[in-house]
This record gives sequence, structure tokens and C-alpha cells, in this order.
Amino acid sequence: MLLQPWSIALLSLTLVCPTSAKIDRKSIVRQFNPKLNSSHPYSPIQVGNGNFAFGTDITGLQTFIPHNTLSSWGWHNSSLPTTVNQTSPADFTGLEWWTHDRLVPYAQPNPAQKEISPWMIANPHRINLARIGLWWGGRNVSEEMLQQRSQTLDLWEGSISSFFLLNGNRVEITTVVSPDSDTVAVEIKSQMVWKGELGVFFDFPYASGKNKFDAPYVGVWNVTGNHSTVLRERENGAEIRHTLDATSYITDITWESEGAKMERLNNKTHRYVLKPAQAGNWLSFTATFAPELAKNVDNFDAIKAKTAKWWTEYWETGAFISLPPANSSAKELQRRIVLSQYLLAVNGAGKDPAQESGLVNNGWYGKFHMEMVFWHLAHWTLWNKWTLYDRSIGVYDRFLSTSFERAQKQGYQGARFGKMSDPTGRSAPGEINSLLIWQQPHPMYFAEMEWRKYPTEKTLKKWDHILTGAADFMVSYAWFNESTKVYDLGPPMYPVSENTNPNQTINPTFELAYWRFGLNVAEQWQLRQNKSVPSNWRFVKENLAPFPVENEVYVTYEGVKDMWTTPTLAEDHPGLLGIYGWLPPDSRMNLTTFKKTIEKVYQSWNFTYSYGWDFPLLAMTAARLGDAERAVHWLLDPNNQFDEIGMPIGGTRVPTPYFPASAGLLLAVGMMAGGWDGLEGPVFPKTWGIEVEGFSKAM
Ligand SMILES: *[C@@H]1O[C@H](CO)[C@@H](O)[C@H](O)[C@H]1NC(C)=O
Ligand SMILES: *[C@@H]1O[C@H](CO)[C@@H](O)[C@H](O)[C@H]1NC(C)=O
Ligand SMILES: *[C@@H]1O[C@H](CO)[C@@H](O)[C@H](O)[C@H]1NC(C)=O
Ligand SMILES: *[C@@H]1O[C@H](CO)[C@@H](O)[C@H](O)[C@H]1NC(C)=O
Ligand SMILES: *[C@@H]1O[C@H](CO)[C@@H](O)[C@H](O)[C@H]1NC(C)=O
Ligand SMILES: *[C@@H]1O[C@H](CO)[C@@H](O)[C@H](O)[C@H]1NC(C)=O
Ligand SMILES: *[C@@H]1O[C@H](CO)[C@@H](O)[C@H](O)[C@H]1NC(C)=O
Ligand SMILES: *[C@@H]1O[C@H](CO)[C@@H](O)[C@H](O)[C@H]1NC(C)=O
Ligand SMILES: *[C@@H]1O[C@H](CO)[C@@H](O)[C@H](O)[C@H]1NC(C)=O
Ligand SMILES: *[C@@H]1O[C@H](CO)[C@@H](O)[C@H](O)[C@H]1NC(C)=O
Ligand SMILES: *[C@@H]1O[C@H](CO)[C@@H](O)[C@H](O)[C@H]1NC(C)=O
Ligand SMILES: *[C@@H]1O[C@H](CO)[C@@H](O)[C@H](O)[C@H]1NC(C)=O
Repeated sequence: MLLQPWSIALLSLTLVCPTSAKIDRKSIVRQFNPKLNSSHPYSPIQVGNGNFAFGTDITGLQTFIPHNTLSSWGWHNSSLPTTVNQTSPADFTGLEWWTHDRLVPYAQPNPAQKEISPWMIANPHRINLARIGLWWGGRNVSEEMLQQRSQTLDLWEGSISSFFLLNGNRVEITTVVSPDSDTVAVEIKSQMVWKGELGVFFDFPYASGKNKFDAPYVGVWNVTGNHSTVLRERENGAEIRHTLDATSYITDITWESEGAKMERLNNKTHRYVLKPAQAGNWLSFTATFAPELAKNVDNFDAIKAKTAKWWTEYWETGAFISLPPANSSAKELQRRIVLSQYLLAVNGAGKDPAQESGLVNNGWYGKFHMEMVFWHLAHWTLWNKWTLYDRSIGVYDRFLSTSFERAQKQGYQGARFGKMSDPTGRSAPGEINSLLIWQQPHPMYFAEMEWRKYPTEKTLKKWDHILTGAADFMVSYAWFNESTKVYDLGPPMYPVSENTNPNQTINPTFELAYWRFGLNVAEQWQLRQNKSVPSNWRFVKENLAPFPVENEVYVTYEGVKDMWTTPTLAEDHPGLLGIYGWLPPDSRMNLTTFKKTIEKVYQSWNFTYSYGWDFPLLAMTAARLGDAERAVHWLLDPNNQFDEIGMPIGGTRVPTPYFPASAGLLLAVGMMAGGWDGLEGPVFPKTWGIEVEGFSKAM
């Protein structure tokens, strides 16, 4: 065969490269398979596919503990208020605040509208689709009555095996969720099936839209008159339509057990029981959830095989890191990494960006946050898991038109992204919600990471209108201050840490840096397309206010009083450290000043109230300064806990789990493993002798 010059070059490259043995991913992953012997009250062992997850107790179902079955599509609205002028979101007026020289309307709860504002915050809310558990032939069985309980989640194949004895009868249960439909598939092996003493119940709750944090269990079980279920039987199958006001969906159940029957338990509840035929000693079924009938044609075995294939590919593709088990810190970090990888594929890889508590329970009514999109998704890019990233990154395109409307209503150019969102792109009213700005440059960050991986015309086109809309807003939002002759950000605004007086907050360090980063990318984007750069983009970028410095250190915002000694200001997210670590260094940054700032934070900050993504942020800063020991220390900080199945506890101010801790961990580890512009990775403690493969470089 004739070799082209370039292929010879490639060949010789391959030959001179030292051959690095491939990491044995499977044995590392399986070392961390969670093994339990009792149900956990709030951390369920889950199976899921990113858009749908099923949380289980010790039986591999939801027999004793009503863990949740959540999806990216199951949402519900409570009935609208009936008060005059408050009967629809269109009646919502918000509030006007002075913003420099004019009144700007913000989507903030209006005290004069006591009905519609809270409705818009609490609606729509995510629903728990069903509870599925073991039915004991009409007897009462409690968890304590089960002997030799043991349960293993096989991370490598995405399947839960549960085992126990009841009165000497062995029961083995396998639980999986299909990678390509919202189907739970279960196999139960036991003589109790044959004896007619073991079946499966399906129960359907009403929506619970009353609580901001609906955890650990979602749904209301005792208002059975407020919703309805209808059973339609067929041979070896049944469909149950569940209607909650305007929300309606179908659970399509198919079983492989000749003669088994689905019956409604009684007319007072929405509980159905799949009773076995006294024929064999096993029962298997699939339950597919969808808004409209979506017939699943695969049986349990087919779904189990598909699931195993999907998960194996998930582990085998993209990046991987192997840390030395001999060091206990390294081992704990490896455990957190592997379990986070599993949990994020289950909870943080849907058609919308992830909710902070994923598909485990409902935080913030199950809504997701546009400023958190960075923390939920950025790690996929460093780990080269682009197909999972692709599932939800389209949110910027989908929400662009509502973002243009938001900016226009406020008298700005371009597109202003919202905050606490539901799948329609409406942002919930809120003082903080309406005054945060750090979500704006995220699309620039993502576009740039994509460009580095896929420097194609398609990438340029995909992001062009989004970056233009985002940049136009950023430029129009910056306000020219006649006395200082620079462009100011705010007031009013909230910085990353949400802990300042918005009417006094001006020129926060992190937002200034992120604005410059974003406008820089937007400018490059135009140049790459041989388009001219709007002159005001450059002008504003170059004339943004300088980073605020007081007593030789950067501060959260310009003019902040006593920030290092005011407890409420020296806690929460240390956003200002994000300018070096999370973000690549800005040409305006003074490294001497920054190093003094980081020392000041280390001395003065109270991390008790820090959130799960603050520690990865600190780790990225430490790593970029070359301090690998410190970076690892932050990732293992006592305020940053992951429980025995890897659920991120999250901190004292948020419900458990708090997945930005997991996604942030993978982002920091990805950066430390793959390096960044100007530095080859990995950056880990020298004595560790780690192995890495497949990472992309950070910026
Ligand atoms: C269950 O597991 C815990 C923790 O691993 C262990 O301490 C306990 O002895 C186990 N209990 C039984 C009954 O196996
Ligand atoms: C809830 O109501 C809003 C506003 O009327 C509507 O846009 C949305 O589609 C509704 N969602 C559901 C799940 O009914
Ligand atoms: C409802 O709105 C209309 C016009 O916006 C106003 O004239 C009327 O007073 C309002 N009614 C109440 C009860 O607030
Ligand atoms: C900020 O100023 C607006 C008026 O522009 C006022 O309505 C609001 O209450 C002030 N907020 C705070 C937190 O002081
Ligand atoms: C099962 O327990 C419930 C409450 O704990 C009780 O109301 C019911 O009568 C019991 N059923 C049987 C069959 O023992
Ligand atoms: C349903 O249960 C909740 C919590 O236990 C209770 O507060 C409520 O009053 C009950 N509602 C009805 C209609 O029984
Ligand atoms: C159930 O319906 C009743 C009657 O319409 C209503 O008063 C009650 O608030 C509803 N319960 C819930 C939890 O929405
Ligand atoms: C429920 O009601 C239907 C009709 O109203 C009746 O035919 C059926 O027997 C009832 N089922 C139970 C379990 O009570
Ligand atoms: C593990 O590595 C860390 C980081 O280098 C080091 O501080 C620690 O002492 C090591 N632990 C053990 C038990 O060797
Ligand atoms: C102009 O900038 C100065 C310094 O940041 C600030 O104190 C002042 O409030 C700004 N002027 C206006 C009108 O916002
Ligand atoms: C950085 O700041 C220090 C004061 O902390 C100053 O001495 C130094 O000149 C500054 N460096 C640059 C490059 O501006
Ligand atoms: C940090 O904040 C917590 C909660 O307010 C408080 O209990 C603790 O004393 C503070 N720690 C320090 C060192 O100030």
C-alpha cells in the first residue's frame, strides 16, 4: 500500500510515543460497586438513563421505602389562582427597580400579587411517576423480617442484584433501566412466586407542588380523589393511565409469567397488584413510562443485555483515571470519581440540564438553574463524553427566544438567559433569580470547548446566533459611568455568592473576568467566520471596570465594606477565586495580587456554609497555581462529603444529594488529569504515580 506523507508522519509518531498500557477500567470500576444490607432512608441505590431514574430500597424496588421514580418529562401544574388579575402567568407584573438612570422591570414576586407570583415559582413541578414494590400475598412484611439481606449495584453493567431470605425462602431480584426508553425491567426468582406469596404492586401518587424542597419522597398519597387511574388489561400485560389535572401519562406493563394478573387493590387507593400465576418460580416484567402509549417490545433479558452494553461502552469510552489504592486519600478520591461517573450518567444527562438533586428527589420543585448549567455539564467536555453533553446543551438554542424577550422587556439588546427554569424556558420569579448575571457567558465557555474539540464550520454555525445574542446583551448591560469613564456591571445585581446588597453591588471580580472572557470568545467566533466584530463588543470589553482591589487583594465587588471580617461576606461561594483556575487567566490579572487574595481566603473564609461545587473551584485554583497537594485536599475537605453509595451530601444549606459537587469533582479532576493551556497534565501529588487516558485539556 502506498503511504501518504502524512500517514508516515503519523506512523512514526506512534512509534516514538512510549506505549502506555491501557488502564484496566473494569476492575477499578467494580471495586467500588456499592454493597448494602439495609435500605437507606434518603440515599436510594438507583438505576436510570439520564432522563429517567428509579430509586430503590434493599429489595431493588420501592417496597419498604418510597424512593422516587422521576423523569425529565413528568411535570404538573396545580390549578391556577382565581383572584382577579392573577389568573395566568400573563398577569404577572414583577417589580421595577432603579437601574442607573431608569426603571427596569424584573421578574420578582410582587407583594401586590400574592397569588400568581408563588404559583409561578412552584409550577410546574416534577412528579413522582410511580412506586413499585413487592406484594407479599396480602401479608404484612417488614424489612426486619428479611434475613441475609444483601444488595450489589454493578456499576459496570448498570444493574442491581438484591437477595434475601423470608421464612427460609430465597428471593433474588435483578433491576435495570433501559438506556433508550423509560423502562424499569425486573426479574424476581423465588419459590414464593410459585406459592402465590410474592407479586408486585404499582402505586401512583398525586403531585406535591407545595414544597420548594420535596425530599426525600416526592408525591402525596392521601388525596386519592384528586387524581385518577384507569387500568386496561391485555394478555400478559396492562396499561395504567394516570391523570393528574392536565398531566397524564401511561405506565405500560408487560410480564412473562403465563396467567399472572393485574388487579386494582381497592377503589380507595391507586394501588395495583400484579399477582403471579402459580406456575413457575420466577416473574419478570417491564414497566415503560411515557406521556403517551409507548410500547416497549423488549423483555427483561433483552433490556438487561442492552443496559449492560450501554454501561460498558460508557465506561470504556472517553477518559479514565487510575489512582493508587495504597494511599487512602487517593483511594477515596477514586471512589468518589467512579461513583460520580455512575450517578451523573443516571441523574445528570437528560434532555434538560440537570437539577441539583438530579432524579433522586425534587429540589427547587424539580426545576433546573441556568447559572448551574456550567457546573452540571462542563466536566463532560474534559472527559470526552460528548454524546451525554449533547443531550442537553441545546438548551441555549431552545431558550434563546424567551431570552431575547426577557432582555427586550428590560430595554436591553440581545438575549438575557433566565435562572430557575422549567422545560418551557420560563424563569421563576425571584429577587436573586432576576438579578444574577453569571449565567450569561456560559455559552461562550461551552462553544469554545466544542471548538477546541471540533473546529468545524458546523460548530461555528451551531453557536453563532447564541453567542451573538449573549454578547449583545452583555455589552448592552454594561453601563458607561461618566465619572470613571469605564463600563460598570451593576448595580443592581447579585454576584455568584448571592450574599450582598444588590443595590450596592457593582463590578464584582468574577463577573468582570467572566464578561471579558465571554466577549473575547464572541469576538474570536466572528473572526473565525471572517465576519466583522461589532465595534462596541471590543470597546466594552477593553473598557470594563478594573478588578476591584482593596489592601492589595481582590475583593468580591468594588467598594465592599469589611468583607474579610463580616461573617456573611466571607462565606458562601468564594467566586473571586474563580478568575484563576475555573477561568483561564485574564491579561489584566495581577498574579501577585491574586496569590495574596488566595492566602486571604484561606485565612478568613468560613467554609461551613460552602456548597459542593466550591471545593472543586478551590481545587482548580490550587491546581493552576501548581499546588497539587492542596487541590487534592480541597476535593477531600471535611465539608465536602460523599456518602457510602457516592451521593454528594452538599453542605448545610441544600438538600441531599447536591450533584454539582459530583460534576464539579469530575471537572476539577478532568482539569488536573488533562492539564490546561500552557501546562501538560497531570497535576496530582508527585508520589501518587497515577495513570490517565483520554482527557481533553482545559482552557
Ligand atoms: C450490614 O453492613 C454493615 C456495614 O457494612 C455491617 O456493619 C453490618 O454488620 C451488616 N449487617 C448484617 C446483618 O450483615
Ligand atoms: C404549566 O403551565 C404553564 C403556563 O400556563 C405552561 O406553559 C406549561 O406548559 C404547563 N406545564 C404543564 C406540565 O402542564
Ligand atoms: C385589574 O386590572 C385592571 C386593568 O389592568 C384594573 O383596572 C383593575 O382595577 C384591576 N382589578 C383589580 C381587582 O385589581
Ligand atoms: C433596591 O432598590 C429598589 C428601588 O430601585 C428597591 O425597591 C429595593 O427594595 C431595593 N432592594 C434592597 C435589597 O435594598
Ligand atoms: C398490616 O399492617 C397495617 C398497618 O401496619 C394494618 O392496618 C393491617 O391490618 C395489617 N394487615 C394484615 C393482613 O396484617
Ligand atoms: C395527608 O397526609 C398529610 C401528612 O401526613 C396530612 O398533613 C394531611 O392532613 C393528610 N391529608 C388528608 C386529606 O388526609
Ligand atoms: C385536592 O382537591 C381538593 C378539592 O378540590 C382541594 O381542596 C385540595 O387542596 C386538593 N389537594 C391537593 C394536595 O392538591
Ligand atoms: C371498584 O369500583 C368498580 C366500579 O365502580 C367495581 O366494579 C369494582 O368491583 C370495585 N373494585 C374494588 C376492588 O372494590
Ligand atoms: C497520601 O497522599 C497525600 C498527598 O500526597 C499525602 O498528604 C498523604 O500523607 C498520603 N497518605 C498516606 C497514608 O500515605
Ligand atoms: C460611577 O462609578 C463610581 C465608582 O465605581 C460609583 O461610585 C458611582 O456610583 C458610579 N456612578 C453611577 C451613576 O453609577
Ligand atoms: C501587581 O501588583 C503589585 C502590588 O501588589 C505591584 O507591585 C506590581 O507592580 C503589579 N504587577 C503588575 C504587572 O502590574
Ligand atoms: C463558621 O460559621 C458557622 C455557622 O455560622 C459557625 O458556627 C462557626 O463558628 C464559624 N466558624 C468560624 C471559624 O468563624
